[in-house]
Amino acid sequence: MLDLIVRNATLPDGRRGIDVGVQAGRIAAIEPQLQASASQIIDAQGLLLTPPFVDPHFHMDATLSVGLPRRNRSGTLLEGIALWGELKPSLTQDAIVERALAYCDWAVAQGLLAIRSHVDICDPRLLAVDALLEVRKKVAPYLDLQLVAFPQDGVYRSPGALDLLKEALRRGVDVVGGIPHFERTMEGGRASVRTLCEIAAEQGLLVDMHCDETDDPLSRHVETLAAETVRLGLQGRVVGSHLTSMHSMDNYYVSKLIPLMAEADLGVIANPFANMVLMGRHDTYPKRRGMTRVPELMAAGLTVALGQDSTMDPWYGLGSGDMLDVAHMAVHVAQMTGLDAMAACFAGVTENAARLMHLEGYGLAPGNRADMVLLDASDPVDAIRRRSTRLEVIRGGKVIASAPKQRSSLALPGRPAEVSFSWPPSSK
Ligand code: FE2
Repeated sequence: MLDLIVRNATLPDGRRGIDVGVQAGRIAAIEPQLQASASQIIDAQGLLLTPPFVDPHFHMDATLSVGLPRRNRSGTLLEGIALWGELKPSLTQDAIVERALAYCDWAVAQGLLAIRSHVDICDPRLLAVDALLEVRKKVAPYLDLQLVAFPQDGVYRSPGALDLLKEALRRGVDVVGGIPHFERTMEGGRASVRTLCEIAAEQGLLVDMHCDETDDPLSRHVETLAAETVRLGLQGRVVGSHLTSMHSMDNYYVSKLIPLMAEADLGVIANPFANMVLMGRHDTYPKRRGMTRVPELMAAGLTVALGQDSTMDPWYGLGSGDMLDVAHMAVHVAQMTGLDAMAACFAGVTENAARLMHLEGYGLAPGNRADMVLLDASDPVDAIRRRSTRLEVIRGGKVIASAPKQRSSLALPGRPAEVSFSWPPSSK
């Protein structure tokens, strides 16, 4: 007797008519026509059952603070950083916790059950660190929150930031962050990468740096990040986030850089929404897109994931925690409209992101955690196209969020009574 069986599901790899059996919070079996009974049965009706969405790059300390103390008038990255600096002195731990918990409610309803959030440590009070450590504990039963010690104002440029970063790690922050392009000089940035990677190596921690988030073709901290990863034996444990300068780099240089990144087994996270609105701001026309070279990096065998970065904060005023929105934007920005390319973007907000976060027991396989999402979609491409409704969100074998199928009623002579936006039209 199992706890739960989801019957007749389609899986992201294309297998159809699959039953998933759950026992004690773990997946017990995945096979067609599973011969077992269970206390709860969910009929998937042939729809897509996927592992949960994973956001590998977010800023939960700033989320839902849009308009505080004022709006970002220029919409630029630098005004966003300045605005966040204006907001910081008036932040309270309770307000950060309240907004973060509200965002996590949205995330769960969107089937987003794991988030890596950077947390700004350039505040002598470490208010945001304590707030997000509290949130991490509160949401642990339903959402994996991983925290990155992020020196927003530069670990060398901001007085005391290096000590604050070490203190944040002592308090329990999981991952070492950085922002080399925000240091005063290229040499300062290089030194920061070296120091931060050494801290991670000494303490056995993962690394995830905001790296080269500029349009400067000569901003080359990713090269240092890859070289330090190799030097310190951190292969597979280091991520470069954004890497937008790669968009503008000389192609010959990139032909040398990508193999170095592959040698370091460097993870890559692109953030298409932030990149599209914050990059290319100094351009008149033509305007650069400013997202890193996603298809080329994937073709070289690197793990590339896609992040939300911001939702309703000083840098980006829109968003709702929907990782299908992120995949949808990536498909367009990177011109990844081939079938395999779109499926790769789906992987960018699911399994690739989980791999970069080193999530334990992720994925639809026996023995893994029984975390999954039933979507009103026939396959991953259909899910991206329709930003499909999350019908059932399951954590440890229990349904923690659900939503009805979205249907529009029609009152047209001789036409169907409703539309579902599926094609061919769904009979269900
Ligand atoms: Fe970021």
